[in-house]
Amino acid sequence: MKKLTLSLSFALLAIASFAQSPYKNASLSDEARIADLLSRMTVEEKVGQLNQVNGGVLTGPSVANDPGAQGKIQLLKDGMVGSFLNVVGTEQTLATQKIAVEQTRLGIPLLFAFDVIHGYKTVFPIPLAEAASWDLAAAEKSASIAAKEASSAGLHWTFAPMMDMSREPRWGRVMEGSGEDPYLQGKFAAARVKGFQGNFDENHVLATIKHFAAYGAVEAGREYNTVDVSRYALWNYYLPSYKAAVDAGAATVMNSFNFVDGVPASGNDYLVNKVLRDKWGFDGMVVSDWASFGEMMNHGYSKDAEQAAIQAIMAGSDMDMEAGVTRTTLVKSVKDGVVPMAVLDEAVSRVLALKFKLGLFDNPYKYHDAAREKATLMADAHLAEARKAAGNTMTLLKNSDGVLPLNSPKNILVLGHLAESQDDVLDFWKGQGEHKYTVTILEGIKAKYPKANVTFIRSVSREGDFDASSVKEMKKAAKKADVIIATIGLFGDLAGEARSLSDVSPSDGQMEMLANAKATGKPVVVLVQAGRPMIMTDVVKDFNTVLYTWIGGTQHGHGVVDVLSGDVNPSAKTVMSFPVAMGQIPVYYNHYNGSRPHVDGNEGPEHFWVSRYRDIPNEPLYPFGYGLSYSSYEYSGLKISKSSINQNESVTVSVNIKNTSGVDGTEIVQLYIRDLVSQPVRPVKELKDFARVEIAAGKSKTVTFELPATKLSFFDQDGNVLLQKGAFKVFVGTNSRDVLAGDLELR
Ligand code: BGC
Repeated sequence: MKKLTLSLSFALLAIASFAQSPYKNASLSDEARIADLLSRMTVEEKVGQLNQVNGGVLTGPSVANDPGAQGKIQLLKDGMVGSFLNVVGTEQTLATQKIAVEQTRLGIPLLFAFDVIHGYKTVFPIPLAEAASWDLAAAEKSASIAAKEASSAGLHWTFAPMMDMSREPRWGRVMEGSGEDPYLQGKFAAARVKGFQGNFDENHVLATIKHFAAYGAVEAGREYNTVDVSRYALWNYYLPSYKAAVDAGAATVMNSFNFVDGVPASGNDYLVNKVLRDKWGFDGMVVSDWASFGEMMNHGYSKDAEQAAIQAIMAGSDMDMEAGVTRTTLVKSVKDGVVPMAVLDEAVSRVLALKFKLGLFDNPYKYHDAAREKATLMADAHLAEARKAAGNTMTLLKNSDGVLPLNSPKNILVLGHLAESQDDVLDFWKGQGEHKYTVTILEGIKAKYPKANVTFIRSVSREGDFDASSVKEMKKAAKKADVIIATIGLFGDLAGEARSLSDVSPSDGQMEMLANAKATGKPVVVLVQAGRPMIMTDVVKDFNTVLYTWIGGTQHGHGVVDVLSGDVNPSAKTVMSFPVAMGQIPVYYNHYNGSRPHVDGNEGPEHFWVSRYRDIPNEPLYPFGYGLSYSSYEYSGLKISKSSINQNESVTVSVNIKNTSGVDGTEIVQLYIRDLVSQPVRPVKELKDFARVEIAAGKSKTVTFELPATKLSFFDQDGNVLLQKGAFKVFVGTNSRDVLAGDLELR
């Protein structure tokens, strides 16, 4: 009896001292708490913190060693799960968090992660479209609303923003990024990081810089394909946006699927340890992409799971999403001394640091409040912002007959499946967005023009097949129509991961529908809906009114019709060049001059041995930075404050812009440079600044940019900054092609 009492009191003592364990003491520093916790953890528990498990819909292939639902709960109870992805909603996340906190030995809370790419329940326009607004404040706002909704649903962490610079419309994932320019990509990355993370309270989520690195360069735009870029290209085109997001304080980074220099990103010591951690000072956590630790075996870089896990952790990557190679092998590798305990501790510390930063040890349930969730999701204010955002992303490609804005039409004929499809205004990365809550173009038209007589004829199917039997009906309806609004493009689910296409042209059926619409003799407004630039050459040859609507999210239809009606004056400008033909891809504005450059239009024998196609121009159909408005602008009087500066100086570059129309507008003014002679060589144009400027009808504004000499710098292949003396061109214009030019010398 005595013995029993004794051991009981020992146990009570142990519990009491455990309750006061320093890691549970909120008055201590995070560092002290982490150190204490590490000292109590078994190797198994440490490895468990590096294990991220899918608990919901699959956003990648199922893995061979998947333990199944019950197995995952058991793993959690055993302290072998540090984070779940794809578990969403307060109910589910709370129940799961309770297991972690109340039924594991140390009670370490979980991190819940989800791909909140452009909204959680209120879906905003796709990021590529949002970037076309060139509106950083709006991007920060949409990310903060997405964060507010996601965090109210129990989530701590989003796998966004994606900032893979890309020139590949064949790649379905260009929709997630901000286009082909590193500077603009970086600006949007930083804005979104700030919007998502805020001050790290329970209304925000941790952001993820992805996919590190250069995933946007997948060959031929084929998902999961090889990336093979030079170090020089890596430093100058691909890395700047990730760096901008690191500087903005992003908490986590995700490895990419591809290799760099033949070494898969997840096990790439140069990328993760040397560049990200040592050179850029990133002290956050690195998570794999879906199963990417294990896929190093597919690459032929790891001979087995054990080697893959060793290569990943030794390269500086921390958390294993779904591959399970860390969970199943790392304990042994640590116990055998192949992976030093210090390396494991560092990786685990980075995971724990996030949990402490969010205050989860002190209040593990603060993200799981059903009443807050209900009040937050799709709040009216969020829908209003989403509508505004959608209007700001509509990109007017052509309006040469002045058909837009529509002049109070009484009879409207609407054509094409996409006009009435709730399914297609959301894409693969729609978060928890539901089709039934979306506004279609048809609904938008009816809401804007309640008195108009609106006729809808599908005419083409979701897949783009033409219904020849619709012609008769179309002709009849067109007779009384003031305007025909015809929708073409790609259905929503073709935007996103694993959605590469070899051809991004409108379908033959859509072209047939357009031809029939044109034959009626009525004005035709072509609306194009897609998550990437399509080949618009044939469309703009035959049609004079073309609005690119992208994929606008929950409020898509209202956003489109706000622009059609003129309630919103379009101002968006493309952030990817629009190719003339498939064979022109990749086509982008910031290319090199090359040894035998060609200027479109130059013909004759002296222009034979040059870099050109024989059948199509070199220039894209629409260049980077292009987009029209109902206003028109005239640029004049480019002034550069000094003709020559030294490395510590700046110049101001100013230009006068007149709104020559009768409509107030917002113009996106762009500043580019060209370094004329340098070693290594630089591209023909590089974006260095931009401004969104409101200019009232008939008024002029002087827009001034500060251009410090440091913006004339670039990187060598090792990431050293080079600032070379010599002659530069400075351009300011309405897009990357139509610019005023001046000279500047760096001495
Ligand atoms: C994608 C990531 C995503 C992850 C989790 C992967 O397949 O490449 O971007 O965050 O799945 O859903």
